[in-house]
Amino acid sequence: MVIKTAEFLKSSSRWQDCPEPNLPEYAFIGRSNVGKSSLINAMMNHKDLAKTSQTPGKTQLINHFLVNENWLLTDLPGFGFARVSKSIRKDFEKIITNYILNRSNLVNLFVLIDIRHTPQKIDLDFMQWCGESDIPFSIVFTKADKLKPGAADKNVAIYREELLKTWEELPEIFVTSAEKKYGGDFILDYISATNEM
Ligand code: GTP
Ligand code: MG
Repeated sequence: MVIKTAEFLKSSSRWQDCPEPNLPEYAFIGRSNVGKSSLINAMMNHKDLAKTSQTPGKTQLINHFLVNENWLLTDLPGFGFARVSKSIRKDFEKIITNYILNRSNLVNLFVLIDIRHTPQKIDLDFMQWCGESDIPFSIVFTKADKLKPGAADKNVAIYREELLKTWEELPEIFVTSAEKKYGGDFILDYISATNEM
């Protein structure tokens, strides 16, 4: 898919305030600092469409972007951010889960995972919850530029093995680097393939 236009639409603190659910929507989710906003910018070929930061917890609202005037891309706040109070963390989680469960036009969630880490309980639990809630998702490994290709492949293989302990079938898996701008095209192709746009 060629990106002709990408524009910021709205930031919302509740799913009820999000733009009209009249276009197919794809959302990026994952732990704070995993690289959601950076990958959105890389895919959209835009330096700062989505706000990024070295400090976790940058994205605190549900951000909607309109792409090619026919689909919506969503940048969500990160989950599992340890340095905010428990009540704020719970508020974030509520925003995210309510959004996911109520957003009628959501086609697929992209769950972002830092390729450098071993499988973390918080991500595995989140994917489990998606499965139980019938929410379609794919896995996107981020920051692949931070590892040598062999080490990246090894970590993906470890992840697959971990998932196969609980899942019969693996979701679609993408390996990306926002820094080096690779992998995003496969996600865009996947988005066009899952939708008639
Ligand atoms: P929150 O909004 O806080 O949840 O974070 P986020 O997931 O949106 O992460 P963000 O895109 O803001 O990136 C966090 C940090 O990781 C920034 O310092 C980015 O420059 C860095 N980063 C993101 N993607 C990559 C990547 O592919 N490679 C490298 N080397 N750094 C990256
Ligand atoms: Mg962000």
